[in-house]
Amino acid sequence: MRTGNKVIDETKQGEALLIKSSEETEKKVYIESYGCQMNFSDSEIVASVLSKKGYSTTDKAEEADLVLLNTCSIRDKAEQTVRKRISNLKPLKKSNPDMHIGILGCMAERLKEDLLEEEKMVDLVVGPDAYRNLPELIDDLDDGRKAVNVILSKEETYDDIQPVRLGSNGVSAFVTIMRGCDNMCAFCVVPFTRGRERSRDPKSILKEVKGLAHQGYKEVTLLGQNVDSYLWYGGGPKKDFDKLSDEERAESMDFAQLLETTAQSVPGMRIRFSTSHPKDMHDDVLHAIAKYDNICNYIHLPIQSGSNRILKLMNRGHTRDWYLDRIKRIREIIPDCGISQDIISSFCTETDQDHEDTLDLMRQVQYDFGYMFKYSERPNTLAERKFSDDVPEEIKTKRLKDIIDLQQEHSLIRNQRYIGGTHRILVEGTSKRSDEHLFGRTTQNTVVVFPKETYKAGQFVDVVVEKCTSATLLGKAVALADGP
Ligand code: 5AD
Ligand code: SF4
Repeated sequence: MRTGNKVIDETKQGEALLIKSSEETEKKVYIESYGCQMNFSDSEIVASVLSKKGYSTTDKAEEADLVLLNTCSIRDKAEQTVRKRISNLKPLKKSNPDMHIGILGCMAERLKEDLLEEEKMVDLVVGPDAYRNLPELIDDLDDGRKAVNVILSKEETYDDIQPVRLGSNGVSAFVTIMRGCDNMCAFCVVPFTRGRERSRDPKSILKEVKGLAHQGYKEVTLLGQNVDSYLWYGGGPKKDFDKLSDEERAESMDFAQLLETTAQSVPGMRIRFSTSHPKDMHDDVLHAIAKYDNICNYIHLPIQSGSNRILKLMNRGHTRDWYLDRIKRIREIIPDCGISQDIISSFCTETDQDHEDTLDLMRQVQYDFGYMFKYSERPNTLAERKFSDDVPEEIKTKRLKDIIDLQQEHSLIRNQRYIGGTHRILVEGTSKRSDEHLFGRTTQNTVVVFPKETYKAGQFVDVVVEKCTSATLLGKAVALADGP
């Protein structure tokens, strides 16, 4: 790690000659992350593994010995962005031929050694379960060989690795609680790039969360592809759960219990989580959210499509009615809960009626906000093998616009309900638009901007909301609050 100490040798003439600087001998890694929060969290694991090998992180690619791109494969566009970035690195590599370029994450896992062929500047390809192996792989690079490890694991959770927080605001942090996904949604590449689902030991999760509280962090987001199926009972594959003894079951911990335990252990911190799956989100999780003030009243609950026929083709494992029942229970148990969606428009065979069903479902739910995408066919997924990506591009564009426009209408309506009320927010930092303003979030995850006055990042502040747009609430602080 960087120490900044310099070793000085006194020459006979009495002049100080710098013979060695630890800043100069240590190596530097530059990491760029793409895609989901999980990738950003993984980059912090990578930085930690590399720190043991003497690498410190830098935010300047031009001074790095090793440039790593932690990549996303979820849509074709995400991969194209990374390809462009690799070619943008050409001049850097030319000016510093000793610099190594590595591809991590989902694209590494999907394309494996082919990436070395396709992208000549890439020296290193490492999948999401192989980051512990980075030091040895880098030794191979130093010996002039290219290196690849894309082996997926059924057990790896990096639970003993203390992440090096990158680009942190010192207020909120991500903690990964599980890895992989067993769901096999027909459109999704994640089960292939991140492997089988496995949960992390709750002891190590709590240790990490308490450590963050100790360092002054005020918010933690528990991350997993499908947090509702989190299950720990001392290790081993989850499918053996039915065979457990009563004692083993008594020691087990599911997601609702993990939420409760975390909330109790850091009462001064806000707890968030992502992502929930409608088929696995049961009432016990909702009751846990309702019971603890420090578990945020916000649920990201992807629907993907409002049509039962399409949900079936997507292999989502639930119907529209099941989903709407989950929404009903959220509203009953946590009346002021913020809810957001993911929607994929124009999946294979989607008709105008299926599209109308999606818009109709949106009208019934009135989401606070959402993430909306055109369907992008991914190689080797169930959908790529079984169906044809047959919705014409101009129809895809039009349907996506309908969905985004409707969501904006709903976001505005949802935000307007805050006007005139006082809402507690956690201040995250200075507003992007003005140095004189701070921004933070309500428990429902809605962004609030207000004049700075004497308030600071990391404080809980009560803000009266005066105005809003579809994306932001604008207000004025009324008092400093003492907790979440
Ligand atoms: N095309 C478009 N969107 C996709 N997503 C996942 N796979 C695809 C795909 N092939 C979206 C889903 C998911 C979010 C993370 O990305 O909505 O919930
Ligand atoms: Fe992909 Fe479905 Fe798993 Fe989410 S739940 S990562 S969409 S397979």
